[in-house]
Amino acid sequence: MSAGHFLIGGELEVRRLGFGAMRVCGPGVWGPPADRASALQLLRHVVKSGVNLIDTADAYGPDVSEELIAEALYPYPKDLVIATKGGLTRQGPGQWLSDGRPEYLRKAIEGSLRRLRTDCIDLYQLHAVDDEVPIEDSIGELAAAQRRGEIRSIGVSNVTAVQLVQAQAEATIVTVQNKYNLTTRKSDEVLDYCAELGIGFIPWFPLDTGRLATADGVLSLIARAHDATTAQVALAWLLARAPVVLPIPGTSSIAHFDENEGANRVELNKEEMQALSGLDQAR
Ligand SMILES: NC(=O)c1ccc[n+]([C@@H]2O[C@H](COP(=O)([O-])OP(=O)(O)OC[C@H]3O[C@@H](n4cnc5c(N)ncnc54)[C@H](OP(=O)(O)O)[C@@H]3O)[C@@H](O)[C@H]2O)c1
Repeated sequence: MSAGHFLIGGELEVRRLGFGAMRVCGPGVWGPPADRASALQLLRHVVKSGVNLIDTADAYGPDVSEELIAEALYPYPKDLVIATKGGLTRQGPGQWLSDGRPEYLRKAIEGSLRRLRTDCIDLYQLHAVDDEVPIEDSIGELAAAQRRGEIRSIGVSNVTAVQLVQAQAEATIVTVQNKYNLTTRKSDEVLDYCAELGIGFIPWFPLDTGRLATADGVLSLIARAHDATTAQVALAWLLARAPVVLPIPGTSSIAHFDENEGANRVELNKEEMQALSGLDQAR
């Protein structure tokens, strides 16, 4: 296994730079994309480029992202790891509500299996903790689905360190997906815990919704020194932050995808890492 790879749960080998498939939906992550053919082309391009970790969720669209992935890529290459999520419902563009009830999650898993045209989901993540439902009950349902063979491995998303430990009491948690990027680092403690235990850490909003692609100051100075773009340096910083970090930058554009892939080439030295780490506003 090369340095650019990670074994999720000790068994699913993925390239460390993956792809987030939330942006293949319509505006506000609602409904179909304006150009369906381009979205399908992008998904095929992603896999052709060697990416083998695609993140999605039943709530993206809803249903749209999972359906497009299946349409573009089924039958799937053997090494493709599709990570989906359940536990959030949609009411309209930009609207999300959590539902972590076991009976809801059971139905959500059935829906994802059908849309993804598979009988076993590689990685199923609890999208968010429902304040009304103990996390133990939600994860307990995912563990039951794992015993039934519907889920290969279990991840959590949007959790605190305490919630992660509570989840671990119910099942083996192989990944955590929290908001994290160069300038938003409230999850530093969770990431450090993951790094200690070898749990994959999937930072969402790795480019701060694209803002880091247009940043100036230290980021752009370092980018210029590497003949790279600021998006590439922001992703390179994440890759260098810890070996368990698995960024999944999202885009609806093949050009941006190709640019983001170039982050693999950028090697930051100690001084650059320190200067970039100083950009954190969350402390
Ligand atoms: N677990 C959760 O609660 C949660 C929440 C949010 C997201 N996610 C996951 O995390 C993934 C990544 O998050 P994200 O897609 O929202 O945020 P992101 O990767 O930080 O940024 C995506 C945005 O940046 C733009 N962008 C991407 N590459 C660019 C580049 N090289 N230059 C300029 N602009 C660029 C994209 O626009 P273009 O389309 O124009 O390229 C898009 O608007 C999602 O796809 C999803 O799978 C999970």
